[in-house]
Amino acid sequence: MKIDQNQKYRPSLHFSPKEKWLNDPNGLVFFKGEYHLFYQHNPNDSVWGPMHWGHAVSKDLIEWEQLDIAIYPDELGTIFSGSAVIDWNNTTGFFPNDPGIVAIYTQHLDSSDETGPKQVQSIAYSHDHGRSWIKYNGNPVLTHPTKVDFRDPKVFWYEQENKWIMSLATGQTISFYSSRNLIVWKFESEFGENIGFHEGVWECPDLFELPVENSGEKKWMLIVSVGDNSKLDEGSRSQYFIGSFDGNTFKPEHEEIKWLDYGKDNYAGVSFSDIPEEDGRRIYLAWMSNWRYANQVPTEGWRGQMTLPRELSLKKVDGDINVVQRVVKELDSYFQVKEEITDIMINDASPLSVNISERFVDVDLSFKNSNSSLYGVTVHHTKSHYTGIHIDTNNNTLTVTRENSGEVDFSDNFSLSQSIVLMDTSELKLRLIVDSASIELFVNEGEYSLTSLIFPNFACERISLFSADGEVQLKNGKFSVPSK
Ligand code: FRU
Repeated sequence: MKIDQNQKYRPSLHFSPKEKWLNDPNGLVFFKGEYHLFYQHNPNDSVWGPMHWGHAVSKDLIEWEQLDIAIYPDELGTIFSGSAVIDWNNTTGFFPNDPGIVAIYTQHLDSSDETGPKQVQSIAYSHDHGRSWIKYNGNPVLTHPTKVDFRDPKVFWYEQENKWIMSLATGQTISFYSSRNLIVWKFESEFGENIGFHEGVWECPDLFELPVENSGEKKWMLIVSVGDNSKLDEGSRSQYFIGSFDGNTFKPEHEEIKWLDYGKDNYAGVSFSDIPEEDGRRIYLAWMSNWRYANQVPTEGWRGQMTLPRELSLKKVDGDINVVQRVVKELDSYFQVKEEITDIMINDASPLSVNISERFVDVDLSFKNSNSSLYGVTVHHTKSHYTGIHIDTNNNTLTVTRENSGEVDFSDNFSLSQSIVLMDTSELKLRLIVDSASIELFVNEGEYSLTSLIFPNFACERISLFSADGEVQLKNGKFSVPSK
């Protein structure tokens, strides 16, 4: 079955399932020229239900081919989130001839008695680059006597000590385990008490080392998603920690909470394993939704999509190390420049409007403020549907409002605005990528990102720039549309 591109809200640039439900990305791995994207999938309905691992592959991270379901539930439970690695050294003994992929995932079993649900970790392996899977006959490989929330194993090879490390979400902490063979696991340490954001269950950890831009330094980054808490407006969201890891313990180097994204729709993001060394990038993608309303978003026959894949790095600003995220360069070939504008002043008498009329658009803007207290961008999806990006220069805030962006009334929460507190708004660079059902906004070349679903009748008719009072200079504006 081919995806019907005319289906309402069907994205062009983002992965979405042909049919039925999708949530977290799972088992992201690169092997023999292919990027693999497995994902939480309910093949029977377009709401969350018994989880399977769906599967898609891509050669360029943008265009995905959906394959058959990879892993089905069994007597140990349904198939929750997890990761995949290439067992290059045959540590498992599963690959006497050629290396292959091992998936490490949670199995979730509901029980009818008062013992409650059970979560354990299992593994499966593939000799034919993910097309078929053999479940290990000694599953589960990791259990816990008491912990109920015990899930989402993310595994990597820790070269220095020739061992695998697993990060696992354990209630409101992350536990680290190690193994020589992916089968026998040893507890190493537990992280998270008295640090970070705790207003929800911790899920989907990912730990990796990253270079700090313009320095010889490297630091470890730990991503932790935090589940929905009905008392708060944000719903589910993701935080991260920067610190060190010595093979046993993760030590954070800051106390404040760091958010991965300032929009509502970036959750359960994890990175690709086994990107070749000569490439060297750390690429992640996330589920582009929010548990608060994920089951209600107004798509028909299918539900759920991923963010664009983004390259991660770290940047030191005023002694503080923060993540920087940029959409992978592979996206560039999907666009051609339609209009480029340099050096014009925008004020209330002369706003700027650029006609687009396309299914997706990529806009790059660089502003220098003169004396505007409020300026910004309006994405006009149709005559009556629009999304606003407002920069308040007195308070240094950037706010995205989607209350008029199209269908919003499937959830009370969806119309609430999303904002970022910036250090400075006198100069600002914005990149926004608009697809049929989303806007991904990057500020100052990825120092902040704000990811937001929208449900307009059309992606983009035109873009306008405004200043409510005073003047702002558009130093450069580049409007790019589909190249084919
Ligand atoms: C995160 C999550 C994971 C779990 C999966 C179930 O969105 O709740 O913790 O493994 O979804 O689908």
